[in-house]
Amino acid sequence: MAKFLIDPYLEWAHGEGLPIHEGFGFDLLSVETAPSPRLGASGALVLLEGRGDFVDCQVLEIEPGGAAEPQRHLYEEVVYVLAGRGSTTVELGERRDSFEWGTGSLFALPPNVRYRHFNTSGREPARLAAVTSLPLVLKAFHDLDFVFANPFEFPERMGGGESYRGEGELIPVRPGRHQWETNFVPDLRDFELKAWESRGVGSSNIKFVLADGTMHAHMSELAVGTYKKAHRHGPDFHIFPVTGHGYSLFWRQGDADFTRIDWRHGWVYAPPDQVWHQHFNAADKPSRYLAIAYGSIRYPFTAEKMDLFSNNDRSIDKGGRQIEYEDEDPRVGEMFRTELARHGVEPDPRMVEIWSSRTASAT
Ligand SMILES: [Fe+2]
Repeated sequence: MAKFLIDPYLEWAHGEGLPIHEGFGFDLLSVETAPSPRLGASGALVLLEGRGDFVDCQVLEIEPGGAAEPQRHLYEEVVYVLAGRGSTTVELGERRDSFEWGTGSLFALPPNVRYRHFNTSGREPARLAAVTSLPLVLKAFHDLDFVFANPFEFPERMGGGESYRGEGELIPVRPGRHQWETNFVPDLRDFELKAWESRGVGSSNIKFVLADGTMHAHMSELAVGTYKKAHRHGPDFHIFPVTGHGYSLFWRQGDADFTRIDWRHGWVYAPPDQVWHQHFNAADKPSRYLAIAYGSIRYPFTAEKMDLFSNNDRSIDKGGRQIEYEDEDPRVGEMFRTELARHGVEPDPRMVEIWSSRTASAT
């Protein structure tokens, strides 16, 4: 039979025997998982409409007191802990690191380390979400042994002895490009962010450099009573809300209306290629989200990411990717005010000023 139009990643996915969830976004705390002998735990594959060509999302659930099977693979993996408490051992050559995680932890598994996850709670299951570069690696080499039984080692990716202790190094650059280099962040919920006002009133952010990897992660915070400016870019940013709650709007250039999704911790979604999107905080406290993608601020991988990490807070008038508040559809602010009122939250006075100056200039 003629072999053509083959996606080696999807072939692998359909052979895994795990539930495959395909769609715009999901509540990962409730997606169905199924036991996997390879994983020694339950798993699911989450294939988002906006996932792009290079990454997938894998969910792992480990039973109370249980341990997943040891794993080793050539692709990179960034893990966000959705629920539970546990520990992971990471081994390379003679080196063996072990760290304890809980809800809100973030860590990186570098290529070809041997690692094993344990659920240290005797009562609660632990649920992890991983974004991995398995699609990229399988499509490039289409050989399972090369990817899952490859002896090559990358010792420098383990970092220094402190990299899995929850410590790290702040690399100050400029707003929106400040970086934290580590392999493990114990709790994203209380991690200190840096101001990035050009993305929105009260906005703050950090870019993570994880295991000197090509996988990207960053975290942003929306202040109370605010929203970020709309922007657009290529696919594959998997967005995981971490604290608070809110909603995002999506539209393609020229659309008459918005698509809205409401989110809180547990959700994942990915803005599809070049779809405008905008994030709104509806909570009475700051809302944070984590974004994981392929192509890091250190190694952007594609020309698109190279440009994005340089220009994503530049207005479209100046060749950038952002719609300034004064240029946005007035319905955006109106919807936000209605949503805040529903939750009994006051808008930030700076937002009120922006809306009123726009109204004044329109009359
Ligand atoms: Fe975005």
